[in-house]
Amino acid sequence: EDAHMGLVGLGVMGKSLALNFASKGIDITVFNRHVEELEVDIAKKFAEENKLVYEFPWFDNLEKFVKSLERPRNIILMVNAGPAVDMVIESLLPFLDKDDLIIDGGNSHYKETVRREGLLKEKGIFFMGAGISGGEEGALKGPSIMPGGPKEAYDRAGKILERIAAKDRNGNPCCTHVGPDGAGHFVKMLHNGIEYGEMQLIAETYHFLRFGTNAAPQEIADLFEEWNKDMKSFLLEISVEILRKKENDGFIIDQILDAAKQKGTGGWSTNAALELGVPLDTITAAVLARNISGKKQDRVSAMKAYNRENKRTADLKEISDDLFKAYKAGSIINHAIGFDLLLEASKSYDWNLNLSEIARIWTNGCIIRSSFMEDLIDILKDKPSENVLMHSEIISLIKNSESALTGIVGQALKAGYPMPVLSSAANYLLSFTSGQSSANMIQAQRDFFGAHTYERTDKPRGEFFHTQWLDN
Ligand code: 6PG
Repeated sequence: EDAHMGLVGLGVMGKSLALNFASKGIDITVFNRHVEELEVDIAKKFAEENKLVYEFPWFDNLEKFVKSLERPRNIILMVNAGPAVDMVIESLLPFLDKDDLIIDGGNSHYKETVRREGLLKEKGIFFMGAGISGGEEGALKGPSIMPGGPKEAYDRAGKILERIAAKDRNGNPCCTHVGPDGAGHFVKMLHNGIEYGEMQLIAETYHFLRFGTNAAPQEIADLFEEWNKDMKSFLLEISVEILRKKENDGFIIDQILDAAKQKGTGGWSTNAALELGVPLDTITAAVLARNISGKKQDRVSAMKAYNRENKRTADLKEISDDLFKAYKAGSIINHAIGFDLLLEASKSYDWNLNLSEIARIWTNGCIIRSSFMEDLIDILKDKPSENVLMHSEIISLIKNSESALTGIVGQALKAGYPMPVLSSAANYLLSFTSGQSSANMIQAQRDFFGAHTYERTDKPRGEFFHTQWLDN
């Protein structure tokens, strides 16, 4: 079968992906630029390390690499998102021919992908932006792949990507043509946004248990393991492993500095929501929680200034049922918020996203796989253009956990433990289900100080009124 691919960039992800291609019988040629300081070329070393199992034609000369590939060429870039992608594309261009295809497998910003796709189309070159999730192990054994770009390009190369992707529960590849131009990278960005929310949900739940109930990491691990019989969440699963990991006499989690890093995709999701004028509460709260965590010195000083100390105020056994209900509701709301942004983006950018299909390719290989993601396939198939929180089974589930959610948030805040994502989830839920919001006051204030006008409940929408607020 005619399946061939050239791969540029043998970093951690590139190497794993190359091995994955090879293991599926795809002809894979690798390129890594020559690095002056290194004695042995990265590409050569990689080929030699694996020569007993696979044959990797390798190059450190870009022209020879391109010329060696079968036409029309398929080239996947596994280089750092940002200027490196443009640099590689520019240096490839002189050697490419019409109908060649470049796939960007990094975490590029979707607007860059839209720009690059347009640019290359003018030159007769196909370009696909493909989000790839699953980290090193996923890349090696089967990631979730979110390719966006011209349908024609997917028809040609999609099958190759499908062969290296993870499989869903029915054995179908966790890879689908997401949509045109930037759709694939947008969907990957939002995947990471949901990931940020889920990670922070687990983190703040752990934090409250660790300090608010004085539970040992081992105890929290046991509890999370119990919860995960229901959730089947990859992130919860790794958190159990993390909490159990010992180093010398102690737990390693206790030795890890509490200041989070990030590479941008979470905040990009927030930017996208702001541009579209839609909510993104939990994801944004998760990004900002990482930001404030980074201000370690300030936090330590403020803790002293406010005489804050960690106090045991709750009993693990007494709160664990409510905590689980709250966590599960928070997770569902986080997903609902994320998928709602996909819906809005799909409408605004004319991407015609299939949300059920996106949930399906997120059921395996990727970081946010879970049993709820499996449920979402049907939930989103059922009513594709409705907020997840409007589906009948979700309504009864949330109704049943609302008091646990608000109760836990209240209890934690009162005891001095922040719950940025859980409280955002509670606020979103209450706002989303408020027939009467507070915005009549906002509109009145805007009209008062700026004559911005307002609509009235007793008049049709679209008719605007202004009041002379002061008598004199
Ligand atoms: C994945 C991950 C992966 C990576 C992100 C998150 O889906 O495999 O999301 O893409 O871990 O870059 O990184 P940050 O937490 O550093 O933003």
